[in-house]
Amino acid sequence: MIKLIIDTDPGIDDAMAIFYAAAAPEIDLLGLSTIFGNVTTKIATRNALRLLEAVDLDLPVAQGAEIPLTLPPFAPSAQVHGKEGFGDVPAAQPKGQPVSEDAADFLIRMASEHKGELVVCPIGPLTNIAHAIQRDPKFVKNVKRIVIMGGSLREGGNITPHAEANIYHDPHAADVVFASGARLTMVGLDVTHQILCTQSDFASIAAQSPELGGMLQKMSEFYLQFYESVGKFDGCSLHDPAAVIACTHPDLFEVESHPLTVVCEGESSGATLAAAPGARGVTSVCMGVKSDAVKALFLERLALLP
Ligand code: BDR
Ligand code: CA
Repeated sequence: MIKLIIDTDPGIDDAMAIFYAAAAPEIDLLGLSTIFGNVTTKIATRNALRLLEAVDLDLPVAQGAEIPLTLPPFAPSAQVHGKEGFGDVPAAQPKGQPVSEDAADFLIRMASEHKGELVVCPIGPLTNIAHAIQRDPKFVKNVKRIVIMGGSLREGGNITPHAEANIYHDPHAADVVFASGARLTMVGLDVTHQILCTQSDFASIAAQSPELGGMLQKMSEFYLQFYESVGKFDGCSLHDPAAVIACTHPDLFEVESHPLTVVCEGESSGATLAAAPGARGVTSVCMGVKSDAVKALFLERLALLP
């Protein structure tokens, strides 16, 4: 069992990742922290609470930063995830409330209470993780590994020709994380563009899991339409679920070790680049994936849900 906290901006593929984590027998989900990106941080918090209530998990949700480290705030990605984050599925008001600690303090405390055991999986911009690193020098040692959905080494970008969206939205935070010396894995577009889910995959999830799989199927309609609008007709990428699966099944990924830097200004802002050896700690960058096996796990585990 791994102890896991997901830092998230839900988000349609975030919802898929959180439902996957709830269903996976080898994951002990300890809570969620929230961040802007696909939606504002406040909406991310509401959506995170609502997703946990849907899977019947009573876990802490810690609200995160509302703005990037250095860049000005930006408009959420409504064209990809819908105005409220779940496509055309209305995000009902949850019963629960976030905890009083903010995301960075929550991550710091949990990393210290579960020293050497806690895996953090950020699937949105890296602002909360950068704050935790800057606030507590012990954080990078206490945390077992940080498995990041974001970046692209050779695949090019998805929000600009050079940058992946999560890194682009707070490149300064990403650079703090890649420079930190923490044990890092990057699950970026180099692999997530190889893991695609089609309309018929979501229909099969919904057939086996009518309530929660059905909810994901409804959300996926909006997401797949966005993909089609940009000329991608072979399905949507399982970005965020791939990162959660990399936490428990690293054997399904091939990695290269590189020190990474992030471009923080200009046309290539948000690009993740391999730096000279020795410049900073190395990141395990996922460059190959057994995509059929990752997708099979995703479909199998979601089918376990009601
Ligand atoms: C990432 O950006 C967001 O739109 C997704 O939720 C995912 O985390 C993919 O680039
Ligand atoms: Ca996300």
